[in-house]
Amino acid sequence: MIVDDRLRTPDAVRDAQRWTAHNYHPLPVVISSAEGAWLTDVDGRRYLDFLAGYSALNFGHRHPRLIAAAHAQLDRLTLTSRAFVHDQFADFCRELAELCGKDLVLPMNTGAEAVETAIKVARKWGYRVKGVPDGQATIVVAEGNFHGRTTTIVGFSTDPDAHDDFGPYTPGFRIVPYGDLDALSAAIDDTTVAVLIEPIQGEQGVVVPPEGYLPGVRRVCTERDVLLLADEIQSGLGRTGDTFACDHEGVVPDMYLLGKALGGGIVPVSAVAADADVLGVLRPGQHGSTFGGNPLACAVGTEVVRLLATGEFQHRSTELGARLHAGLHELVGEGLVAVRGRGLWAGLDIDPALMTGRQACERLAERGVLAKDTHGSTIRLAPPLVVTEAEIDEALTQLAAVLAG
Ligand SMILES: Cc1ncc(COP(=O)(O)O)c(C=O)c1O
Repeated sequence: MIVDDRLRTPDAVRDAQRWTAHNYHPLPVVISSAEGAWLTDVDGRRYLDFLAGYSALNFGHRHPRLIAAAHAQLDRLTLTSRAFVHDQFADFCRELAELCGKDLVLPMNTGAEAVETAIKVARKWGYRVKGVPDGQATIVVAEGNFHGRTTTIVGFSTDPDAHDDFGPYTPGFRIVPYGDLDALSAAIDDTTVAVLIEPIQGEQGVVVPPEGYLPGVRRVCTERDVLLLADEIQSGLGRTGDTFACDHEGVVPDMYLLGKALGGGIVPVSAVAADADVLGVLRPGQHGSTFGGNPLACAVGTEVVRLLATGEFQHRSTELGARLHAGLHELVGEGLVAVRGRGLWAGLDIDPALMTGRQACERLAERGVLAKDTHGSTIRLAPPLVVTEAEIDEALTQLAAVLAG
């Protein structure tokens, strides 16, 4: 329904540009409501959401159980700070720890905060448990990584846009090619406390490492007494057809880094999960967050964990992902040069002679499908896991039409 005094698309886009820093370049689409896999804009046009908030909306827009959990909590208690305990906290931490198969959970808000938490815990573990000399800890990361936007994290980004002009950078990180086990192994020495890695690199274009790489990283980390920190902020919580992307190769990291979908598309919720010998290094006053683990976040997060506990969403991602990938592979040679991914998650390289990724996303939007480009000619598809077969077929039809020009 269109409310008459609301700005229509061109004016709303202009106003949004006028009043904010230009740190994003959004498609000129102004969303005003949503349900499941569908978005409606201020002009009443409907779009299929094939980005799903970079996987923050794995359960679709306004999933009834998540909305009900949020409503119920809004009526009782929303914030206490961690100075006191609240009655939603233990259930959330226990159920998330059980989902991860770990002893303990530490909740924060954004993904970047989960990454910062992991870095701090790994360093402290290195000094207190492994015996690394004070101030010498190193962490190995991969080229093409995306772990967030803090000053420490962008210091080890290899993307010039994310990295350049934000120094001086935090020392203590070693960057190795993604997928190269020998390089990773060679970068580890007695000062190394952790390997921080995405099991699939989302922002890089849904890059899946060679088979055997992740188990190899696990083996090297174990042999060299180094923590394996798996950034599953985008890849985890059902996106790839398993609860975690690491599951596909039977890899269990020392720490899971979670975010995005953990907040059900309602509130920012992130967390790290690890065993007590790792997370137990933190003592009162050494880490925290005013909003981390707040009652509203915990109520929604607990319902997210319960949705995942049945395996239904992971199953949907596997089944529907096979349909998506089969359709995409038919377009290779028809405007696509490569397709990668797992489950309901795909990175597509468009023939650069045809159009840029941005142009493809603009043309898809005109045809009622929203997706996001990355790195020139790549686009990412990550529909909500509630998407139907018919909706996938519709998106594929529109993509084929865009590629056919
Ligand atoms: C793998 C990964 N880690 C961390 C982050 C940072 O999350 P946030 O934007 O919530 O800080 C992202 C966001 O895209 C991500 O994809």
